[in-house]
Amino acid sequence: MRSIAKQIRYRVGQGLSTLFPGAIAGADLSVATRFLDSSQLEVFRTMPVRDQTHHCCVASALLADGWNDRDVVVAALLHDIGKFPEGKRPSLAARAGFVLLSGVSPALVDRVTARARWWNRGLVLLARHSAVGAEIAAEMGCTSRVQELIARHGDKVDGSDPQLAALQRADGVC
Ligand SMILES: [Fe+2]
Ligand SMILES: [Fe+2]
Repeated sequence: MRSIAKQIRYRVGQGLSTLFPGAIAGADLSVATRFLDSSQLEVFRTMPVRDQTHHCCVASALLADGWNDRDVVVAALLHDIGKFPEGKRPSLAARAGFVLLSGVSPALVDRVTARARWWNRGLVLLARHSAVGAEIAAEMGCTSRVQELIARHGDKVDGSDPQLAALQRADGVC
């Protein structure tokens, strides 16, 4: 029961960060310039500013907790990059719909996004952003560990990978 509550808390946190990224004031955008190389930074800057802020908030939260491994910080700075492939952006309505569906049941998200149609494009983008983000990270030359952390950041929180769990925790509060 406790782990279900934990899941719900994480999903709601993720959802709120999706709708209101950068809700925590004072996120330091300079963390991106410290940890990303120039080509990664170029891709990072294609994201909307509020999403850049969200990513910097996650990275700063990890650093503040002592998680300063470069791969973890780079993954934090790019973990949602898959929401913005080739200049696409999920609409606010899609983001809100995704939060609602995820809150009801992840299985429902799978069902609704199983096939891409004109009406669910934004939802499909959001549902697949971890996998797509890992592909983008691979194209950018990120390490396999960064790719893995991005690919798994939306997985069920199970604590078997402490770095991943820390990333998920920070994602949930930013
Ligand atoms: Fe995400
Ligand atoms: Fe996120």
